[in-house]
Amino acid sequence: MNETPERSETIVVRDLHKIYDTGAEQIHALAGIDLTVRAGEFVAIMGPSGSGKSTAMNILGCLDRPTRGSYHLDGEDVSDLSDDELAEVRNRKIGFVFQSYNLIPRTTAIENVTVPLKYAGVRGPEQRARAIAALERVGLGERLHHKPNEMSGGQQQRVAIARALVTAPAILMADEPTGNLDSRTSVEIMALMQELNDAGMTVVMVTHEPDIALHCKRMVHFRDGCIELDEVVKDRTIISTG
Ligand SMILES: Nc1ncnc2c1ncn2[C@@H]1O[C@H](COP(=O)(O)OP(=O)(O)OP(=O)(O)O)[C@@H](O)[C@H]1O
Ligand SMILES: [Mg+2]
Repeated sequence: MNETPERSETIVVRDLHKIYDTGAEQIHALAGIDLTVRAGEFVAIMGPSGSGKSTAMNILGCLDRPTRGSYHLDGEDVSDLSDDELAEVRNRKIGFVFQSYNLIPRTTAIENVTVPLKYAGVRGPEQRARAIAALERVGLGERLHHKPNEMSGGQQQRVAIARALVTAPAILMADEPTGNLDSRTSVEIMALMQELNDAGMTVVMVTHEPDIALHCKRMVHFRDGCIELDEVVKDRTIISTG
């Protein structure tokens, strides 16, 4: 490594490419992304459908690998790890939230939130206490034993956020976390994300809705697999564009 990132630079991506090979054709989903995210930032990734947002998010979240280019996470090169190594980094550093919640059906909120702790090797009695604390933190202290089909969309997304938080990751990543929610519930979820960011968490999320993105502190716009615009937001207003 000839370029050692500063400690506060949590995510450092350079010339990142992703090419999907479908057999019939090669799709250049990311065409040279450069992005640095510092600890404590609150970033919205925006852009039209097909611009590469989810592809980028999956690589940033260690769910997938780039075709080429580098990705340093807290100074560690994670661009070329095996599946097992990638999973280990993900479990240690990242909480990931999906648009469709991805909860286990017919299973209570507590049990859903406990899942990552099992993988992390946390002892049984401690699992339950930590799951309850995470659910209380997202405002679901009264819904501990409810199953996904007994909760609203917003509540299910809160369970998913609790599950992402329960391992105490430094970074929360989310791909369209409000995509299935009405606007009032979306604003509530954004308030929760803001609270987590205020408490020191680095938050990176995808949204294609400008009014949702204005809850963040920075907006990074994708187009055709490239970053076309990087803006600073303060109090729901864009204050600089680069
Ligand atoms: N697994 C895959 N195999 C082949 N092509 C893919 C795959 N995933 C995504 N693509 C293609 O890569 C490009 C970028 O897709 P991506 O899902 O990253 O876009 P997006 O910005 O998240 O769009 P949306 O707003 O619709 O979610 C698109 O052309 C898409 O068709
Ligand atoms: Mg997407």
